[in-house]
Amino acid sequence: MTVMTVIDLRNVVYQYPDEKRPVLGGIDLCVSGTGLTALVGPNGSGKTTLGKMMAGILKPDSGSVRINGRDASEMSLGEIGQQVGYLFQEPDRQLFAPTVQEELAFVSRVRGAAEEDIAGRVGNMLDRFHLSHLRERFPFSLSRGEKQRLVLAAILIQCPRFLILDEPTTALDVRRKAELAENLSDLDSEGVGMLVISHDHEFATRRASRVIELRGGAVHADTRY
Ligand SMILES: Nc1ncnc2c1ncn2[C@@H]1O[C@H](COP(=O)(O)OP(=O)(O)OP(=O)(O)O)[C@@H](O)[C@H]1O
Ligand SMILES: [Mg+2]
Repeated sequence: MTVMTVIDLRNVVYQYPDEKRPVLGGIDLCVSGTGLTALVGPNGSGKTTLGKMMAGILKPDSGSVRINGRDASEMSLGEIGQQVGYLFQEPDRQLFAPTVQEELAFVSRVRGAAEEDIAGRVGNMLDRFHLSHLRERFPFSLSRGEKQRLVLAAILIQCPRFLILDEPTTALDVRRKAELAENLSDLDSEGVGMLVISHDHEFATRRASRVIELRGGAVHADTRY
């Protein structure tokens, strides 16, 4: 049984400390379930801030964020992580293990995978993301594109039902970008819902069933296809 993830924002206002104006000026948005939603908009329009809000990483100054009916500010990041996987714009922030395979084994273990299943699951992810030859490497020594693939693998090994990907193509060459598109299509067919934040309009919107455009911290357009 697949249960749909629903993220519901009501009148969300957010201002970074020491800034003069709110970055998000009262956002009402409900993103749910399956399919790919693209979040686009110019630099500084608030995409990353909104993505972090939806993943419970930032808390609104006023208004509410509900994940499957629960107030995100009352959930731990671990609880949210079971529902929503989040790929940071900067992959370094999400790496901490001494080797690539340990990175995957660790998150798998934290998520409660049985010890005898872990090696198999790690092996599958290493294959799927073309990381097998790098399994003994120190994650920080990887190239930016390799790090991005590792972080995505580490998120997916936790089997989230909804994914938020912030600029997932920035560091990828043409071939890796095509592979990522394939991975995302597979996840889409498996019923994993996704929000893809991207400057790469073509990449983000090609498969999208909904495109949300932010401008100056407000929803400028919200189109369903
Ligand atoms: N930690 C922070 N402290 C203060 N201001 C911030 C912080 N992070 C972002 N901002 C500001 O908030 C605004 C929105 O930033 P945000 O990163 O959400 O935009 P974005 O749409 O993701 O931009 P980009 O396309 O460059 O990734 C910008 O004006 C930015 O300078
Ligand atoms: Mg951003």
